[in-house]
Amino acid sequence: MTPAARAAAAIAILDQILEGQPAEAALIRWARASRFAGSGDRAAVRDHVFDNLRRLRSRAAMGGAMSGRGLMLGLCQEEGIDPASLFTGEKFAPSRLVETELQAGRQPSSDEVLDLPDWLIPLWRESLGPDAEAAAVAMRERAPVWLRVNTLRTNPEEAIEALAKEGIAVRSHPVLPSAICVTKGARRVAGSDAYRQGMVELQDLSPQMACALLPARGSLLDLCAGGGGKALAMAAQGAGPITAHDINADRMADLPARAERAGVRIHLAQPGKVKGQFDTVLADVPCSGSGTWRRTPDAKWRLTPDDLRRVLATQSRILDQAAGFVAPGGVLAYMTCSVLAEENERQVGVFLAKNQGFQMVLERRYSPLDASDGFYLALMRCR
Ligand SMILES: C[S@@+](CC[C@H](N)C(=O)[O-])C[C@H]1O[C@@H](n2cnc3c(N)ncnc32)[C@H](O)[C@@H]1O
Repeated sequence: MTPAARAAAAIAILDQILEGQPAEAALIRWARASRFAGSGDRAAVRDHVFDNLRRLRSRAAMGGAMSGRGLMLGLCQEEGIDPASLFTGEKFAPSRLVETELQAGRQPSSDEVLDLPDWLIPLWRESLGPDAEAAAVAMRERAPVWLRVNTLRTNPEEAIEALAKEGIAVRSHPVLPSAICVTKGARRVAGSDAYRQGMVELQDLSPQMACALLPARGSLLDLCAGGGGKALAMAAQGAGPITAHDINADRMADLPARAERAGVRIHLAQPGKVKGQFDTVLADVPCSGSGTWRRTPDAKWRLTPDDLRRVLATQSRILDQAAGFVAPGGVLAYMTCSVLAEENERQVGVFLAKNQGFQMVLERRYSPLDASDGFYLALMRCR
């Protein structure tokens, strides 16, 4: 595909997303219908789509329209690409731009340049204080790919060497050496031998840093286990026995295979059938996902105040439920991948006020400015 044909594909997909389709689904549908597109084409189209979604408001302002064409034109303006080189009107390319389209763009306002929905800007500012603008701007960039070295299988040096042999370059985190950031060849990771042999797992830096602060021994319940990323990280740190649970058992479908690849044992509990008490209860609750919007930028625009209210109620219910599984002297680890205080500090504040048997041990906030994804951990001990 020519660069212009890739732009035309991105325009069509963006239009579908603007009509309400989830980004991943729209991309998959396009890829299935476009057998002629090679892996390089698919990657380039995906990059255009995600890049525009991260910067939806500012790009639409620069391109003069909230449409696929407006967004691609905004991308050209921002990146100094001559729009005529993409909007050529040739076969498979977007049609030529007309004068009104070329004149419609303008500089984004100070709010538009944050690339956040209007209703969220006050919450964002209140939650992140002096970092609010820098964090919003950081969310407009592509997220780095982080791996967790599975120290039960290997050590960081060996993992780095094995990845390098497969053309994947990485650098270790200076404080947490088992966290490694991919600097070249990210798209090759999932197919690499190092990954298949369980030497490394895909996991963002922030949850790795948070898990490193939890007790590395004793029984552990991962109450909202999903794909099991945190349960696997805790197993690698030495915690056990580990029970994984999720209200939606399908979310844990890949966990047995992941555990086998990692060489760890994780017991799966049926939904609603957890029994007993645990030294550590991890509640990685459903959230707005506001800390991960670099990876799922369409979610940033889909979230509504009602969604946030619903998710806050769910978090509060899960916290209460999780507390009942903590053994005396044990800890409750509340986690979200959000940067919003309502889901984090405020939620935990309310919980501690009504559960005097728990006390805060430590609290950490991560943002793209100091870690990778936005993330929150509150570790509370049951007296
Ligand atoms: C943020 S995700 C968890 C991600 C996972 N811990 C990981 O590391 O991959 C939240 C999960 O909570 C689950 N969930 C929602 N309500 C729940 C409830 N009441 N009890 C248990 N799990 C719940 C969802 O199905 C979802 O898989």
